[in-house]
Amino acid sequence: MDEALGLAEFCRQLPKVELHAHLSGSVSETTIQKLQVKKGVGHDHAHQGDIAIGKGETRHLEEPFRIFKIIQDLSDTEEAIFTMTEDVISEFAADGVRYLELRSTPRHVPHTGMTPSTYVESILSAIQTCKDREDVVVRLLLAIDRRQSVETATTTVRLAQEYVLRSDGVVVGIDLSGNPAVGDGRDFIPVLKEAQNSGLKLALHIAEISQQATSPETAALLSLPPDRVGHGTFIHHNQDLADMVVDKNIPFEICLTSNVKAQTVASYSDHHFQHWYSKKHPCVLCTDDKGVFCTTLSEEYRHAAETFQLTRPDLWDLSYHSIDHTFGGEDLKQQLRDKWNTEKEKLFQTT
Ligand code: IMP
Ligand code: ZN
Repeated sequence: MDEALGLAEFCRQLPKVELHAHLSGSVSETTIQKLQVKKGVGHDHAHQGDIAIGKGETRHLEEPFRIFKIIQDLSDTEEAIFTMTEDVISEFAADGVRYLELRSTPRHVPHTGMTPSTYVESILSAIQTCKDREDVVVRLLLAIDRRQSVETATTTVRLAQEYVLRSDGVVVGIDLSGNPAVGDGRDFIPVLKEAQNSGLKLALHIAEISQQATSPETAALLSLPPDRVGHGTFIHHNQDLADMVVDKNIPFEICLTSNVKAQTVASYSDHHFQHWYSKKHPCVLCTDDKGVFCTTLSEEYRHAAETFQLTRPDLWDLSYHSIDHTFGGEDLKQQLRDKWNTEKEKLFQTT
């Protein structure tokens, strides 16, 4: 093994799978500046402190949701959505991400003429543009925001069903996200079932805040069951919920920095990753919102290694087994495994 390679560089060169990345939250400061110029608003319209939570800072969970709104207001045209998608894909690829599932909430912005369909088209068109240019396979989940009506959620699921065919398999599933303190996830169960019955995969934000450890929505959402759980921060606080996750072997999308910075976990060492990883339950390291939380996926691997004393082979295994939980289909999984095995030789070569 090339021990001369520092941990940060090892984590960057490690081929990685990113399964939990919200488009608006993943946008970098550079892209935000580009969007400001395009929109003709001054650079000081949004200061760094307004649109990102920096190193060592933590803020209450409400704060990221205020920031998402600023970014969404800046990206209210099809052109802006294309630009941000293209930039986000390039940045993930530069960080060594070789398979990326983006997720985003389709928006209707009457004053610019952007509709949920053209929103999705713009993302798909950027994915297509990056296909031959970037060394990363990209898939898309359409998101339902908990604040939305069931009618809007139904429109999102119908759009996803339509685009599974039209996008040649790029659209793979549905995400349920949004401020966990708002709304009741049970309202969306019929429409999530409809999505599942039509072959769409489900990645749902579940038990992100402590109240959800005892709220009936958590058991109801877990009994669907979803294909992956986003965060699941408080699931292990309730034995019945923990048993459901274990019985159904539902993988966790783990976002260390996001949870620490949004103060839903006290510190990296208190993170529930430790609980599930030590039980050999499937966990996938992800970023959530790399722009807002000022992180990268390789940083998340480094935090995991440093906090939980993971060796380089442990990090390799974590990344390799993440392939099992991708939504891109069995053939693609095999292609990714072959790619990983080729890169393994290079990464672990003794020099
Ligand atoms: P967008 O859907 O691409 O506009 O990405 C931003 C959206 O993702 C936000 O408005 C939220 O609905 C969702 N989101 C991002 N991060 C989180 C999170 O940590 N918890 C719940 N929802 C989130
Ligand atoms: Zn999320």
